Amino acid sequence: MVLVESVTRAGQSMVVCGRQSREDDPSPSGSAAPSTPHSPARPSRPQGSGHVQAEPESPRLAKFHVPEIVFGPGSLAEAAHAAARLGARRPMLVTDEGLLAAGWPDQLLHHLADGGMDATVWSGVTPNPKDHEIAAGHEAYRAAQCDVLVAVGGGSVIDAAKGIALLAGNGGVITDFEGVDRMVAPIPPMVMVPATSGTGADVSQFCIVTDTLRNTKITILGRALVPDVSVVDPHLLTTMPDWLNAATGLDALTHGIEAYVSRAHNPLTDHHALQAISLVGGHLERTMDHPLEQESRTHMAQAALEAGLAFTNAILGAAHAMSHQVGGLLDLPHGVINGILLPHVVRFNAAPDPARFVPIAQALGFPGEVGRSCSQALAEDAAEWAACEVRRLADELGVPKGLSEIGVTAEDLPTLSTMTMADACLSTNPRDADRADIEALFRQAL
Ligand SMILES: NC(=O)c1ccc[n+]([C@@H]2O[C@H](COP(=O)([O-])OP(=O)(O)OC[C@H]3O[C@@H](n4cnc5c(N)ncnc54)[C@H](O)[C@@H]3O)[C@@H](O)[C@H]2O)c1
Ligand SMILES: [Fe+2]
Repeated sequence: MVLVESVTRAGQSMVVCGRQSREDDPSPSGSAAPSTPHSPARPSRPQGSGHVQAEPESPRLAKFHVPEIVFGPGSLAEAAHAAARLGARRPMLVTDEGLLAAGWPDQLLHHLADGGMDATVWSGVTPNPKDHEIAAGHEAYRAAQCDVLVAVGGGSVIDAAKGIALLAGNGGVITDFEGVDRMVAPIPPMVMVPATSGTGADVSQFCIVTDTLRNTKITILGRALVPDVSVVDPHLLTTMPDWLNAATGLDALTHGIEAYVSRAHNPLTDHHALQAISLVGGHLERTMDHPLEQESRTHMAQAALEAGLAFTNAILGAAHAMSHQVGGLLDLPHGVINGILLPHVVRFNAAPDPARFVPIAQALGFPGEVGRSCSQALAEDAAEWAACEVRRLADELGVPKGLSEIGVTAEDLPTLSTMTMADACLSTNPRDADRADIEALFRQAL
């Protein structure tokens, strides 16, 4: 519960303090119960009526952290202005080979030079960034006496930039910082330009790094890792290959769903989570068919951004806790793994309490009529529909049906399950899951 205590201690008192009773439901959906199954102070739900009432939710303290955001097609140049505002003279531009080939870092270099800044480019990151890559990036940062980090890339590049910033301020080895708020000293300013519509790393307090000694991905979490400025330019999304668009869109969907049902959700995060779910449901497929269409790319950029705002404040759940282990073992696209796992985790979480999944189903286009109070049976239908809809979308996007198709074997499952239990994201999953539950979920997803 360390993570839950951490995210609640600054005012998100849901788990520690519980809620007061209240007649009206201030949640944006207003149509179903915001619930926190299994959280210690959860209010009891009337049993046996066969109806799911909109659960009273009291106004409670909620802290919501967010970087400065510049959003819109053509906004890339703003990243240089932001770096200048943050005092950059010798910024490090972190990127990777794929982005260099797409040409976006070159454009930003020109903008930085126009602003009188002498940037050092470092592109030694690979997908699922490795601990030793971050050490190398830190060395380059020190050698060039850089002062600000600017990143153009997907979640891997952005996480690498965060890792470099963390080491620049604190020294040491990146894996020492696994967990919550382990960094003590201030870190250099960060400007992030996401090039994929998925991770939300440009607004999040997470940094996910592959620990190459243990073959797992570690989660480093802390408010200091929230970037100073996020510049979201949907033009950058047009050079993504289809598989990456599909994977990152499913990642954003997983962020929205896990944040909405998280034990640490609050009304501020709910709003962004549902909006992200609805935008992915409405626009991801269209971006696959019309990759150059600005409108749908802009909607997907907004989806990733809002999903990021939701999950960085509400944290995630079992799908991510499990996905990190598979991604660390097999170095596969994070969003593809999420897409395979998510329907199984939705069913697991909805089984004891489907109500919270009704607004999710509605955001995805559930055709059933749902009022403020719906029957238990209808809530179960909605949750099952949502799980099937996620799988339908994954099928449309060409995501493999099971983990075995991407190289996971039955022999891997015990280790993957044990390691999942230590992942920070599991502590905010709405339903308690022990090691046997996690292994059963892995078997279902195999
Ligand atoms: N920090 C967080 O909050 C957070 C959240 C979710 C996921 N993640 C992490 O993010 C990583 C995944 O990031 P990702 O899915 O964005 O992909 P990625 O950064 O791993 O990039 C994958 C590949 O796509 C290429 N690419 C990216 N954008 C491109 C573009 N616009 N045009 C052409 N090529 C492009 C890259 O060069 C790279 O080769 C994982 O390590 C995951 O764990 C972090
Ligand atoms: Fe993710």
